[in-house]
Amino acid sequence: MNIILLGPPGAGKGTQATRLVDSRGMVQLSTGDMLRAAVKAGTPVGLQAKALMEAGALVPDEVVSGIIGEALDDLAPETGVIFDGYPRTQEQARSLDTILSDRNRTLDHVIELEVDEDALVERITGRFTCATCGAGYHDIFKQPKIEGECDKCHGHEFKRRPDDNEETVRTRMAEYRGKTAPILPIYEARGIVSRVDGMADMEDVSTSIAAILDGPRA
Ligand code: AP5
Repeated sequence: MNIILLGPPGAGKGTQATRLVDSRGMVQLSTGDMLRAAVKAGTPVGLQAKALMEAGALVPDEVVSGIIGEALDDLAPETGVIFDGYPRTQEQARSLDTILSDRNRTLDHVIELEVDEDALVERITGRFTCATCGAGYHDIFKQPKIEGECDKCHGHEFKRRPDDNEETVRTRMAEYRGKTAPILPIYEARGIVSRVDGMADMEDVSTSIAAILDGPRA
């Protein structure tokens, strides 16, 4: 099964993708995570992406579609994939069709996380992750069980993303409204779009997504 999780910054795509990885053995392909790794490693892709990401602007379509194609080539054909943060433009949606059909894969579900944009700024500016294992936390919604210690790996170093400030978040939201939300009709025409209340409790969001994946196609 191959699915897209769609929603504005902070909607919970990464949170829910991680849960699906743990519960179903699917693989999460997050273009944001892959680009951040490229920036950290100082690769040519990373050098091209760094300033755009810090400004909240989109990285060129051919760059992200290239890394998605390469990542899929590393996976066994039967592995289910969660596309997290990709596609984000009509051009990327067209590329994904080609990328999938070239690899005999189909797209089963597009799940849109519906959220109240005003609440997203609070979600994003409060977000932090374990510097060692990447586990995600939030100042208000999900603190480590022991203060200053990661629940998963017991590390004590945490970090925040440089693009998680209010000004950049507003730019990212505008990019979502202007370029990403308009791709939904492409998938609606195929009857594979489902919507989930992304403002609900994390557990309830997971339950709703599970019901979609286990039920008949949208
Ligand atoms: P990317 O990393 O994809 O960022 P994003 O889309 O802005 O999404 P986020 O990771 O910020 O949010 P999320 O929906 O995953 O929320 P999360 O689960 O963390 O992209 C970053 C940049 O890379 C882009 O701006 C662009 O420059 C570039 N890029 C990436 N892909 C690209 C592409 N395809 N094309 C071009 N450029 C691209 O949740 C947020 C917080 O809320 C967490 O702290 C979490 O604990 C909390 N939370 C989650 N769910 C709930 C809930 N139900 N209730 C309460 N709190 C919750």
